[in-house]
Amino acid sequence: MSDILKKAYDPESFRKNGYELIDLLTEHLAKMQSPDLEDKVMPSTSPDDLFNFWKADYENPEGDFYKKALSLFNHLHHPKYIGHQTSPVAPDAVLAELFSCFLDTGMGVYEQGHTGVVLERLIIEILSKKIGIPEDKSSGFLTSGGTLGNLTALLCARSVMIKDDVWDQGYHGKQYAFMVSEEAHYSVSKAIQTMGLGSQGLIKIPVDDLFRLDASQLEKHYQAAREKGIEVIGVIANACSTAIGAHDSIHPIADFCEARKLWLHVDAAHGGALLFSKKYRHLLNGIERADSVIIDFHKMLLTSSLVTALVFKNGNHSYQTFAQKASYLWDDAESSEWYNLAKRTFELTKTTMSLRVYTLLRNYGEELFETYLDRQYDLGKTFAKLIEADGHFEMPVEDPESNILCYRYIDKNLSEEDLDDLNLKIRAAIIQDGEYFIIQTRIRDRVFLRSTLVGPFTGEKDLLGLLTKVHAIRKKL
Ligand SMILES: Cc1ncc(COP(=O)(O)O)c(C=O)c1O
Repeated sequence: MSDILKKAYDPESFRKNGYELIDLLTEHLAKMQSPDLEDKVMPSTSPDDLFNFWKADYENPEGDFYKKALSLFNHLHHPKYIGHQTSPVAPDAVLAELFSCFLDTGMGVYEQGHTGVVLERLIIEILSKKIGIPEDKSSGFLTSGGTLGNLTALLCARSVMIKDDVWDQGYHGKQYAFMVSEEAHYSVSKAIQTMGLGSQGLIKIPVDDLFRLDASQLEKHYQAAREKGIEVIGVIANACSTAIGAHDSIHPIADFCEARKLWLHVDAAHGGALLFSKKYRHLLNGIERADSVIIDFHKMLLTSSLVTALVFKNGNHSYQTFAQKASYLWDDAESSEWYNLAKRTFELTKTTMSLRVYTLLRNYGEELFETYLDRQYDLGKTFAKLIEADGHFEMPVEDPESNILCYRYIDKNLSEEDLDDLNLKIRAAIIQDGEYFIIQTRIRDRVFLRSTLVGPFTGEKDLLGLLTKVHAIRKKL
């Protein structure tokens, strides 16, 4: 073997480097939990400066790469990371990922993926049971993210609901559409337009005062579509919506879908995790009536990105989405071999994501997810009270349903436009400062600050600290 290959595959270097890396991450994890933590949550380096830094590093690679990189990453385990919806990864899921990355068999087909494949089925069965679908009826798989999960679910809806063979022959000039809440995630419109349904393929249904799809409007929009020659094939419910975290009431939407014989897809990328919570499970009532559901494990279930479950009420449907004839992978393209997952997924090679979920369930049981979810959702309610008590902020909903909170600094002397400008400046200053990480969004066209309480180490003190910081920034603007 050549020297360079020997070096790259040297077992002793792997052991040494591996231990050093684990030590580094262990210290980092301990630091993130320390009461004396003073590190910033993220670096305030501009993209150009950071690019030049790594370019120089590449030209002159000195020092420990991981040590250098660690200080330049956004730290999701930091108690002051209250930005996006991705939960800080539980260390056991990291080890599972290391293990599966090393073996790297993928899990598209059984003869490659073996254990990864069957664990995937086990996870889908656990979720199906929690949803309330009989295990022997349901089916599904894991896929790479909520965006791909939504697209795959809607492609399946298309293949089941449209009698023509769209996969082979296209739409024949017919216009089909899905109805979605105007609060639906961007991935839904992306999926519909990727499917070639155009902007007419997306019928937006207004939301009520709590930002939930107003089911009483469905019939009116359905009839209006029919008059234009558009055939509605399904409705998508949010559990919960991305911007505000509002859970659509699924039962009235399911009633409508049953009456009109439409596909019901629930985008539960964020809130589907509540299947593991007794306290907040009611927010998902009616989910058992959905034809398809997506749930992201990397959002509120402590795994690294990306792990999304797509579950079908009628297991046979999941085999109808793709008509692939990869004869080098399987003899019979038509048969429903549950263990040759790539027949049903967009991906062919797929990372062995089931191990990340399985190790957490095996090592800690469902109690881990339940405890985490209840804590974070409870903390959402605490934060809402702190915001209200402060008196200088406004929220789009007084009592947020989830751990996603939107709020904006208000000043009665400022116009709406000036308030937008002020809140944009506040958020920019927070990012520049780096002590906290929060994000921003637009709600009914106005700028709001937005936080998702994902950190198991985030407490009331951190949240009060954020409000104090906003006041301090405001004084300087
Ligand atoms: C409701 C909802 N659906 C889908 C997605 C897309 O998920 P992913 O980022 O895993 O592709 C998101 C992401 O924020 C989401 O909030």
